[in-house]
Amino acid sequence: MSGLEAKKILLGVTGGIAAYKSAVLLRELQRSGASVRVVMTAAAQAFIAPLTFQALTGHAVSTELLDPDQESSMSHIELARWADLILVAPASADFMARLACGLANDLLSTLCLATQAPIKLAAAMNQHMWFNPATRENCRRLEVRGVEIWGPDAGLQACGEVGPGRMLEPEDLLQKVVSLYADRPLQGVRVLMTAGPTREPIDPVRFIGNRSSGHMGYALAQVLCELGAEICLVSGPVVLPTPVGVERVDVETATQMQGAVMARVETCDIFIGVAAVADYRPLAPAPQKIKKTSASVNLELVANPDILAEVAALEQGPFTVGFAAETEGLEAYAEAKRISKGVDLIAANHVGSEKGGFESDENALLLLWDGGREALPMMSKIKLAEQLGAVITKRYRTVRG
Ligand code: CTP
Repeated sequence: MSGLEAKKILLGVTGGIAAYKSAVLLRELQRSGASVRVVMTAAAQAFIAPLTFQALTGHAVSTELLDPDQESSMSHIELARWADLILVAPASADFMARLACGLANDLLSTLCLATQAPIKLAAAMNQHMWFNPATRENCRRLEVRGVEIWGPDAGLQACGEVGPGRMLEPEDLLQKVVSLYADRPLQGVRVLMTAGPTREPIDPVRFIGNRSSGHMGYALAQVLCELGAEICLVSGPVVLPTPVGVERVDVETATQMQGAVMARVETCDIFIGVAAVADYRPLAPAPQKIKKTSASVNLELVANPDILAEVAALEQGPFTVGFAAETEGLEAYAEAKRISKGVDLIAANHVGSEKGGFESDENALLLLWDGGREALPMMSKIKLAEQLGAVITKRYRTVRG
């Protein structure tokens, strides 16, 4: 049993180079037991022929809204009612814009407007289109209406640029669809997390920061949310969209992060410190911009509170998960950190090497707990978050029941 038996999925395909991957996705969905019907936009047909999907599904592919032949086989209203789920993959910037406006100017947009089924969009576009304020605004509008946007993944794009915009791989999309119908092992569990960097002000315009992108923490928040947890994410400054269903609290400094965490920690079951919290902050940030008046400047730094250690030391505190970023002696340093901070599980990774770490899309983790270890090899941060989420769930259930 793979969980999609008897599920009826309407796969929408819009115009993007990732459309060729939709044929693989279709196969994966069918293999998992789903019945799939395909609707293509006109632009999608410039990338892949309807015949491909017709041959794979055994059904004519619907492409036109006002075609009497297509309407007589299954009308657009029947199709909208038939679907348990509409998955649009790839979902182009243009399609998302049309959906955000509530347009019904082709078959797929009309179906999305007419359906009662949940709608998921596997975003795929050039990274500048993804970051464009118009697309950001459209995503927000769609998410407020309950349309979930999956991805995009980051990496090398078909246009040669590197950044977010690639459609999630078919197997990742399949995983997400399966998880919609799967058991939710963290149902009712409240998770408080930190993610991203902190900024420690030197003066009103300068700060001490670090290279954390927030990707790992945000991916983990999304995974745990899909496993049924209620997530509150205390986040340093990042350029990432908030995962659907996650409550986000924005902070800048370590002290603000500590305040936001300690105000919420009593009501959480699991605390996960993914943030790269600055260990030190300037003792006395200058009230005005520091002028270039001398050849050298001394900056006195004082230690920041260790949020993870503070949470782990609470009596009857939550199950705690920490991260350890090390440049050498990974296992020994991480184990020492686990014991000294008193955390239940520590996820250690190498930083400063060629692959993996803060700015990379990939990472590998060594997970350590009292009496056990598991190594997760180099993979995308999204996949890694899924595997880490599974281990956190298992360890939490083992320790706390
Ligand atoms: N952490 C925290 N508050 C801090 C510093 C770190 O909550 N002030 C958390 C991080 O979120 C992470 C873990 O502690 O989960 C490990 O942080 P790291 O910076 O690797 O360890 P440090 O204790 O700062 O040790 P060192 O810098 O010496 O490696």
